Parts: sequence; C-alpha cells; structure tokens
Amino acid sequence: MSEISRIFPITPNTLLQAAKTIQAGGLVAMPTETVYGLGADAYNATAVARIFEAKNRPSFNPLISHIADLNFLPDYAETDERVMALARHFWPGPLTFVLRRKDFSSSLDLACAGLPTVTVRMPNHPVALDLIRTAGTPIVAPSANRSQSISPTTARHVWDSLGDRVDMILDGGACSVGVESTIIDLTGTHVVMLRPGGIAKEELETFLNEPVLLSHGNPDLPSSPGQMLKHYAPSHPLRINVTQPMPDEFFIGFGTIGQGAPLNLSPTGDTREAAANLFAYLHRADEQTDFPKIAMAPIPDTGLGLAINDRIRRAAYRS
Ligand code: TXA
Ligand code: MG
Repeated sequence: MSEISRIFPITPNTLLQAAKTIQAGGLVAMPTETVYGLGADAYNATAVARIFEAKNRPSFNPLISHIADLNFLPDYAETDERVMALARHFWPGPLTFVLRRKDFSSSLDLACAGLPTVTVRMPNHPVALDLIRTAGTPIVAPSANRSQSISPTTARHVWDSLGDRVDMILDGGACSVGVESTIIDLTGTHVVMLRPGGIAKEELETFLNEPVLLSHGNPDLPSSPGQMLKHYAPSHPLRINVTQPMPDEFFIGFGTIGQGAPLNLSPTGDTREAAANLFAYLHRADEQTDFPKIAMAPIPDTGLGLAINDRIRRAAYRS
C-alpha cells in the first residue's frame, strides 16, 4: 500500500466509511469551498484532542463547528433575528459566526476551548454537507495543515502536510474559494470582523445596512482571533505545577501525582486524554463550593502537554 492510500475518491462507499470514521472518533480531512478541513466529531473531546495533536498546535483555539442544517442552530447556539437572517442569506458559504453557546455539554468544551461561545459555519460543498449529515454530528474542522503552514486547497496538500496523522482524506478536487472563511463575532451589539476571508466586509455591510467593525485597532475589542481566549479563566484562583495541594484547594491530578485527587486528567499520564478532559474539569473545579481554590498537578511538555500548559498558564495568570 502506498502513502497515497489515505486519499480517497468520493463514492457512496467512501463517504459512508468517512462518516463511520468520524463517529468512531477518527480524523477525516474533508473538502470545503474555502480550504480543506481536518474534521472530527465536535462532541468527542478525545477526537478533538487528536486534531490539536495532528496539527502540532501549541495552544487550544476554538474550532469551527461545521453544520449542514440550519434548524440545528437554535439548539446549539443563541440565535436572534440578525443571526438567522445572516445565516439564511450567506449559508452555505464562507462566513463563520461566533455566537453565544447554548449547549454546555462538557463533551463540547474542548471544541469551544472552554469559552462560552461557539463558532459555527455551514460550508458550501456537497461532500462536506453529505459527510456532516451522514455522520449525524457537527464536525469541527480547522484548516487541514500543520500549525504555521499554509492552508491546503487540494487533497494532496493535506497529505503532504499531515500524512498518516489523518485517517482518511476525501478528495473533492481543488477548493473553489481558496481562502478561509470570514469570521464575524455576533455576540455583541455591533458585528465585529475577527478574520477577513471569503465574504467581503462590504457585502456584509450592504446586507446588514450598518457598519461592520474591524477588531484591529479598537482597544475595546479583541484585536485578533485568539486574543479573546485570554478572557477565559476559572473564577477560582488556579495554582499550577502543584504536587501537594493546600486544604482549601480542589486538586486536579495527572498521572501518578494526585492518585487520590477528586479528579485526574489522565491516571495513565496520557496527554491526549488530559487535553480531552481539561476544560470540563476546570469547569467542574470552578463549581466546587467547598473549595475556593484550584490546584493542578504538573503536566509534561510533551505531546499535547505543551498546549495544556500554554492554556493553564494563561488561566493561572492574574494581574
Ligand atoms: O474556511 C475556514 O474557516 C476553514 C474551513 C475548514 O472551514 N477553517 C478554518 O479554521 O480556517 P481554523 O481553525 O484554521 O481557523 C479559525 C480561526 C482560528 O484562528 C480560531 O482561533 C479563530 O478562528 N476563532 C474561532 N472561534 C473563535 C472565537 N470564539 N473567538 C476568537 N477567535 C476564534
Ligand atoms: Mg488555519
């Protein structure tokens, strides 16, 4: 079998196999109209952790949930008339919304990077839409390339960047748009563009009949995607690299440190498992009324440990 065996032509059989791979927690690279996405079941935190691992992402960014049915949106995210009007007009298409989260299932926490927002788009590509429908779950997908490299617009690009870190690559030919989607934040009064992309600012302004703000340059707005992440921290103070918790600290263990702790990110010391549990456990720790503080065991800087440490260092930071 050659390396190219991970690239599959689109047939009813390969689509079904890809949907089963998603359901089983695997990674499927799928074509969209913008770029190829590295897809996983949004509700499977272990599969989502594998995405970060495959991309070598040094930190956890919120991922875009790709959906195929507009009727699903109101259960997933807070919607209003503006959201629904934009969705009806621009979807399926290269426009992504940051919305307030409605579904607070802990299995969705890693996909949302622990934020109270969810990032959603409906791609305009028959293969992506078919895959989402057949898998029966929203598919989170960042661009299917290693971190810091160029977004892939062909199946071959995906293979060259990620190789056998992906279980299947569906070959839908070259992407028609070729740049990523435009991302807009719809959580506030004004529409704020977080990333320029396949839909122009002017198009949005014409449709909305009001100005769209750019996040860059406005001190009251996040200046780039990812900056908002700094705002997420548990409300209980978090101390990290702890081997011996204080009596008022809710201890989150890792591996052999904290075997008796109320929660252990991964008793076997597996950083992928730890990543999958991280945000859900931080939320649980934050809900403890008996413990006003949180302490976390040291996490090694290997595998997904790097991203975990990046995240908890920021969560632990207090000015
Ligand atoms: O066209 C696209 O959008 C492609 C295709 C596959 O859909 N996807 C894509 O995903 O470009 P990704 O993860 O490579 O880029 C999404 C960017 C990331 O930088 C992420 O941090 C940012 O959007 N982002 C997502 N949700 C956010 C949020 N709630 N706040 C701030 N930034 C967010
Ligand atoms: Mg990307």
